[in-house]
Amino acid sequence: MGIHLYNEPEIEKISKACGITANILDEIEYIIKEGISTAEIDDFTQKLCKKFSAEPAFLGYRGYPGAICTSVNDVVVHGIPSKSCVLKTGDIIGLDFGVLYEGYYGDSARTLIVGEVDDKTALLVDKTREALYKGISAAVVGNRVSDISYAVESYVSEFGFTAVREYTGHGIGRNLHEEPSIPNYGSPGSGPKIRNGMVFAIEPMINAGTHKVKLERDGWTVRTSDNLYSAHFEHTVAVIDGKAKVLTRGKSFN
Ligand code: MF3
Ligand code: CO
Repeated sequence: MGIHLYNEPEIEKISKACGITANILDEIEYIIKEGISTAEIDDFTQKLCKKFSAEPAFLGYRGYPGAICTSVNDVVVHGIPSKSCVLKTGDIIGLDFGVLYEGYYGDSARTLIVGEVDDKTALLVDKTREALYKGISAAVVGNRVSDISYAVESYVSEFGFTAVREYTGHGIGRNLHEEPSIPNYGSPGSGPKIRNGMVFAIEPMINAGTHKVKLERDGWTVRTSDNLYSAHFEHTVAVIDGKAKVLTRGKSFN
């Protein structure tokens, strides 16, 4: 299929879906506290989708059972909301969410701290957020896709953290997942050239310990192999006038 280049009116529509995605994540942030279950977060997410007349992009995607991914502590990505998963102080939770709105997709993720966490965990969350911005800054015309990958991995490795290899960022727009895939590790200077009109989701998944992960028997939940914590941030961006513009900007997560 190749990499789709979107024109201005299309990017405007993707931007709408992304704006709704960010607004919904902003509202979800308010209810994240000790004592809430991830199933309650999912219910709330579904209500917000109705309010914004948007479809949750993940619900039913390859059989995924939730409207949102709720990935707690050592869960890297794709944590399934559950009544038995109740947040407590010291937890971190990755909220990964996207919508389909008028034919276009938006996709974004943030990791939040519940109550108080230890310094290393706080650093992991901070540096993963920062790594996303390093990646976004590398998404410029003149660079190639792996320059984004290198920007992310070289940054987090300074702090002793590691980048997950099995899961990547991706093109997005008319489909949730399009070419190219955007790894969070690797050497610079390879992969497709970055061009105006490309739209993609950059999403570092960064581990406190080993980069290795394991898939649970539910077929979705991805955990770190050493059960140390993992953080995840994601923005959908469009390359316009030579540089990446963030489309999923929210109130707290800019
Ligand atoms: N942001 C995630 C991704 O791009 C969301 C996919 S979860 C799924 O892979 F349930 F939809 F698969
Ligand atoms: Co994504």
